[in-house]
Amino acid sequence: MIEVKDLQFSYNKNEFIKEINFKVEKGMIFGFLGPSGAGKSTLQKILTGLITNYKGHAIVNGVECKHHTNIFYENIGVDFEFPTLYEKLTARENLKFFASLYTHQTRSIDQLLESVGLQNDADKKVSDYSKGMKSRLNFIKALINDPDILFLDEPTSGLDPTNSRMMKDLILLEKTRVK
Ligand SMILES: Nc1ncnc2c1ncn2[C@@H]1O[C@H](COP(=O)(O)OP(=O)(O)OP(=O)(O)O)[C@@H](O)[C@H]1O
Ligand SMILES: [Mg+2]
Repeated sequence: MIEVKDLQFSYNKNEFIKEINFKVEKGMIFGFLGPSGAGKSTLQKILTGLITNYKGHAIVNGVECKHHTNIFYENIGVDFEFPTLYEKLTARENLKFFASLYTHQTRSIDQLLESVGLQNDADKKVSDYSKGMKSRLNFIKALINDPDILFLDEPTSGLDPTNSRMMKDLILLEKTRVK
């Protein structure tokens, strides 16, 4: 589902993504480990089509990322490093809005909220959410379009042990849903 060949990238002259090669097959959970500043988030930006001036190949779902069209986003889900939610909207309004961006059937908002224990806070504004609640909402936002590939950037960062365990269990559960 993902193939990276001889990938190179730099924001300036200091190339920090150098000749990276790897493949990720369907149903795999694949993680990048590296110190702060190593380029993990940058690599995710390349694989999700946000950075296009790379050298080499980054192929996702059969598409060279730099040549993606809008259809590319129908089948991927992205949980960014920092929550990307509308603070003045409620959790439910956020999910409804993001679901409306897709052309195909999206997942049940109520079921997703329940899966991360946010069913009783669904109608609360995101500005009134705690950090862990925002992380959980950001995660289910990435699942709303029932994506074939899920990109997660440090999904357990800043979570307490209970929420961190819940997030890992949810990731494993998504693996079992592979079509
Ligand atoms: N928009 C940008 N413009 C210029 N340099 C950038 C930009 N974003 C990141 N960098 C630089 O690129 C390098 C890799 O950053 P990146 O965010 O990919 O690291 P990371 O591995 O995700 O780190 P962390 O674990 O801290 O999240 C760093 O040296 C960073 O300063
Ligand atoms: Mg990062």
